Amino acid sequence: MITPENSTDTLFNTCLFAAQCAGKYVYNRFNQAVTVDYKGKTNLVTQVDHKAEEMIISIIRDVFPDHRILAEESPELVSDSPYRWIIDPLDGTTNFVHGVPIFSVSIAVEYQNEVYMGVVYDPCRQELFSAIKGHGAYLNKEAIRVSATPSLIKSLTATGFPYETDAIFDANMKIFRAVYKKSQGVRRGGSAALDLCYVAAGRFDGFWEFSLNPWDVAAGALLIMEAGGKVEDVYGQPFSIQNASRIVATNGKIHCELKQLIENIYHKEK
Ligand code: IPD
Ligand code: CA
Ligand code: CA
Repeated sequence: MITPENSTDTLFNTCLFAAQCAGKYVYNRFNQAVTVDYKGKTNLVTQVDHKAEEMIISIIRDVFPDHRILAEESPELVSDSPYRWIIDPLDGTTNFVHGVPIFSVSIAVEYQNEVYMGVVYDPCRQELFSAIKGHGAYLNKEAIRVSATPSLIKSLTATGFPYETDAIFDANMKIFRAVYKKSQGVRRGGSAALDLCYVAAGRFDGFWEFSLNPWDVAAGALLIMEAGGKVEDVYGQPFSIQNASRIVATNGKIHCELKQLIENIYHKEK
């Protein structure tokens, strides 16, 4: 059995290669005619999502044929391997379809149920975010750190909203309003993986979103933790793939203030 110690380079190179190949492909198809299908009323998927995912899976399977794979657009590939790859082949599909250049490819590797490595690639800006547990976070080859912003009122945060305007919709609108009033602004970029990387890089001071999936957050959450930030769920539980659907991630300094504000409204409304 391969352990993380003796396969880190191969894992990492495979992760980087897959993210960059898929990113290049997605970028080449940007602003070209594309067939759009609907997974829900406003939840889009294109043949570019599918093709990028096939590319990533085939690169991984060539090197690690027995690893488990959880990818957004395909049934989970299961085995008894301690490794699991978690893939969002195109995070920001709505932006991609509308010609908005904010989207990314996100790939993480779990070892024994903990995220061990993560890569997020923004092909429009050629920004490659990466982290290996215990080894820091990087943008291209430079180490990155979360911001030093000390309070919510001095912060710039980001969020996103689920496709279905379900039970959480009213709470989401109230939380957005509350954070907006108590900060320097809230952005809604449309790629949760990039939002998280922007927290890791100190561009945003915090991020939260409800109803996200493991593939949206696995890589970005590790980047924030490796960049010195804090990632929890809205109840203050440490980040895990199981609570990805209610993530609150910050530079650490604004964490209590932001989490408390969100939790109070979420608790009352949901
Ligand atoms: C979406 C993006 C968006 C977030 C949505 C996600 P997709 O992922 O990350 O920012 O607000 O909740 O579903 O569908 O483009 O992969
Ligand atoms: Ca996504
Ligand atoms: Ca996606």
